[in-house]
Amino acid sequence: MKVSYDFSGKVAVVTGSATGIGHAIAMEFAKAGADIAVCDYNEEKGKATVEEIKALGSKAAFYKCDVSKDEDVAAMKDGVMKEFGTIDFLLSNAGVSYGYKPDKTPCLGPPFTNVLVSDWERMFDINLFGMVRVIQAFYDVFKEKKEGKIVCTASIAAFESTSLQPQ
Ligand SMILES: NC(=O)c1ccc[n+]([C@@H]2O[C@H](COP(=O)([O-])OP(=O)(O)OC[C@H]3O[C@@H](n4cnc5c(N)ncnc54)[C@H](O)[C@@H]3O)[C@@H](O)[C@H]2O)c1
Repeated sequence: MKVSYDFSGKVAVVTGSATGIGHAIAMEFAKAGADIAVCDYNEEKGKATVEEIKALGSKAAFYKCDVSKDEDVAAMKDGVMKEFGTIDFLLSNAGVSYGYKPDKTPCLGPPFTNVLVSDWERMFDINLFGMVRVIQAFYDVFKEKKEGKIVCTASIAAFESTSLQPQ
């Protein structure tokens, strides 16, 4: 069954939308007619995403924003409100996953024992507190409108354990 939406006139802010799942979310919202604020710290790919969205006929703007930085999130919120005037959907998707193989080359996920505490701190500052920062930044707008949707990308890892063995 194909479900279609009409988000014409709506504004979606998508963090981590330069690549991957966030990029796909931004494109699907744009196809449904929404205007998109592309928020990411990857400027090159973020700007490319903006051009792809514009080609679909939606308004789009890029905000270089590291969600682990209070000042970046505050500036992004101010920029979005200035450019778009409101927000209807907040997609908090920016995230990272760190791990290292026994030879110390980076990989996703296990082994747990090779992930440094500093990597855990960085992951929490982006994946968890980054989400908190962006929700807090836009909370007053949603409260005043008394409507809107906030969706946060999580992980199957919240429900299923992973192996401690190297991949
Ligand atoms: N792909 C998977 O299998 C998988 C599994 C579990 C969870 N996730 C979650 O899904 C989300 C998207 O992951 P993905 O697979 O599309 O990864 P991805 O690396 O392709 O995309 C993540 C995007 O977030 C951006 N980003 C990272 N840190 C940022 C920061 N501090 N500030 C702003 N932007 C930042 C990156 O530049 C990138 O564009 C993440 O939250 C990730 O943890 C993905």
